[in-house]
Amino acid sequence: MTRKILVTSALPYANGPIHIGHLVEYIQTDIWVRFQKMRGNRCIYICADDTHGTAIMIRARKEGRSEEELIGDMSEAHQRDFSGFGIQFDHYGSTNSNANREICSEFWQSLRQADLITERSIEQLYDPEAETFLADRFVRGTCPTCGRTDQAGDNCTCGATYNPTDLIDPKSTLSGATPILRESNHLFVQLEKLHAFLDNWVETSGALQIEVANYLKGHFLAEELRDWDISRPAPYFGFEIPDSPGNYWYVWFDAPIGYIASTREWCESNGEQLADWWRDPDCEIHHFIGKDITYFHTLFWPGMLNTANYNMPTKVHIHGFLNVDGKKMSKRDGTLVAAETYLKYANPSYLRYFYATKLTSRVEDLDLGIDEFTEKVNSDLVGKVVNLASRVGKFANKTGLSETYPDDGGLFTAGALAGDEIAEAYESGEYAKAMRKIMELADAANPFVEHAKPWEMKKDEQRTDELRDTCTVALNLFRQLAVYLSPVLPELAMKCGELLGEEITSWDQSKSPLVGRPVSKFQRMMDRVQPEDLKKMIEESKELAAEDAATDNQPTFNDSDQPLKDEPLAEEITIDDFAKVDLRVARVVSAEQVPEANKLLKLTLSLGGEERRQVFAGIKAAYEPEKLVGRLVVMVANLKPRKMRFGLSEGMVTAAGPGGAEVFILSVDEGAQPGQRVH
Ligand code: 2FM
Ligand code: ZN
Repeated sequence: MTRKILVTSALPYANGPIHIGHLVEYIQTDIWVRFQKMRGNRCIYICADDTHGTAIMIRARKEGRSEEELIGDMSEAHQRDFSGFGIQFDHYGSTNSNANREICSEFWQSLRQADLITERSIEQLYDPEAETFLADRFVRGTCPTCGRTDQAGDNCTCGATYNPTDLIDPKSTLSGATPILRESNHLFVQLEKLHAFLDNWVETSGALQIEVANYLKGHFLAEELRDWDISRPAPYFGFEIPDSPGNYWYVWFDAPIGYIASTREWCESNGEQLADWWRDPDCEIHHFIGKDITYFHTLFWPGMLNTANYNMPTKVHIHGFLNVDGKKMSKRDGTLVAAETYLKYANPSYLRYFYATKLTSRVEDLDLGIDEFTEKVNSDLVGKVVNLASRVGKFANKTGLSETYPDDGGLFTAGALAGDEIAEAYESGEYAKAMRKIMELADAANPFVEHAKPWEMKKDEQRTDELRDTCTVALNLFRQLAVYLSPVLPELAMKCGELLGEEITSWDQSKSPLVGRPVSKFQRMMDRVQPEDLKKMIEESKELAAEDAATDNQPTFNDSDQPLKDEPLAEEITIDDFAKVDLRVARVVSAEQVPEANKLLKLTLSLGGEERRQVFAGIKAAYEPEKLVGRLVVMVANLKPRKMRFGLSEGMVTAAGPGGAEVFILSVDEGAQPGQRVH
């Protein structure tokens, strides 16, 4: 039976470019949608830019232009990036649309009618110069716990968390002004009234991955659900609330409604009815989102949908975050690669395939190892799949395909039989499994060509029929793989279709081989990944980040990698090994030249009280003795004393650097006391 399926990805914020982290989701969704379409289901893929909120208002102000202009440019850039990666939406809208404003009003009325809205006044920090209320991230100040300056509004690098109102000397990041506390009225959705409904939905709908349902039950649903602050006072870039002038819907209210509004626009230009998609119980709704926005999509959103009488999500597919080479993506490391930068250096198919090999139906983070990426693409796609076609492509152009499908030892039939299992893996989001199965088929197919040796048949006119048969088998096995891979690699599928004169559009094309037809001139299907290109991509990303940081006045750190190259890290030790070295804070109480020695200064170190140690340190070229007196240093205090020509050395002062004038004594922050151990 044909299913009717509406699919969404999270609407990307209109305040920044798309990067490879975002693409995990869009590629994952696009694969699923393409798969559904190939299976003959009616499936539409709906998305939009998420355009409202303070961040966008502030950015537009900074750039001296209207929000509309900013979001217009951003939408264009986003759509260009998506299309570069072969992500094919049926409609791409914007939350700043008429349709969205109208549907937001409709939801609002339903919430009012259900008596779910309440109003009360809250105190918030307000920037009197920028004339706007400040979300926590727009306030910085001194940490009330450790005294570090320039810390974020809600947490410090020391690990402390607090309210922005607890900061010492808080400043608005917008204007530098000192924020004041100001009261304003906010509107709230009383989610607790939906608690029983949500309990039941989470428990029984089957819409959530088990770990997600358990998490919700154990955390949010285990307690009273807090009222959800759904409005923001002016100035705010968004929709003004019709029955509450001066207040705007918070961006997270209108963003998910954007899914419906964008569908409505698609319906309007395709002669469809919105109700057939969002109110027909036979229509499935699938949301693909990242784990960070679970709460919005599994509690607020179902609550709102139910109240406004729309379909509930059939499934919320939640994925983890992307790491690169085992670490969080970072601008500084150049691993937060913008979609646009990637496209300059690498084929989008590589990333689509690589992500597919990593994706499962669980909420796990996935790792893009750069070497693994190169290896997988080169060995699987180029070495196994494309190779099958390229080894016979040229000959086949001359021979065409045989009239009947030759004996291939059961390879094609086995491949066709694997189709259901592969389809099931796609359907359930187990793409990694699907890719493994497909590569197993490729592994089985390649030896056929190796044994047949078509390049030898080619030399012997008598063997033309044999050659044609070999080409027929190899190209049909290749095509079968191309059909199975086509949700992931639409471009490869297209090239395969061109080669054999029949476009790949349906899963069932994997079931019957093509025979008795010409084969087009062979064209290159895919090149190998060049590691140098990936290096350039990372380098360019680093440079772009540095430029951004320069305009944002953020400090950049361009530390050289030379020191570590000069002296690689030592062999691993245990904490017990480390504990043997007794490092202590010490104060330099006297420092003298040692006339007979070229490199040494004689230091007297105090460990507090009467404890003194004499140490000879090779720092003569780097430090004048007088400048050292009074300084706190870190010394190795349990080093076996060593008799030197000039006297006994009773320890060592810690310092970095290659030597000579390039020696840097470690300093100790103010407050530490001589004698304290360094852990
Ligand atoms: O987290 C985000 O990037 C949001 N812009 C996602 C919104 S999804 C939906 F609710 F609109
Ligand atoms: Zn702190």
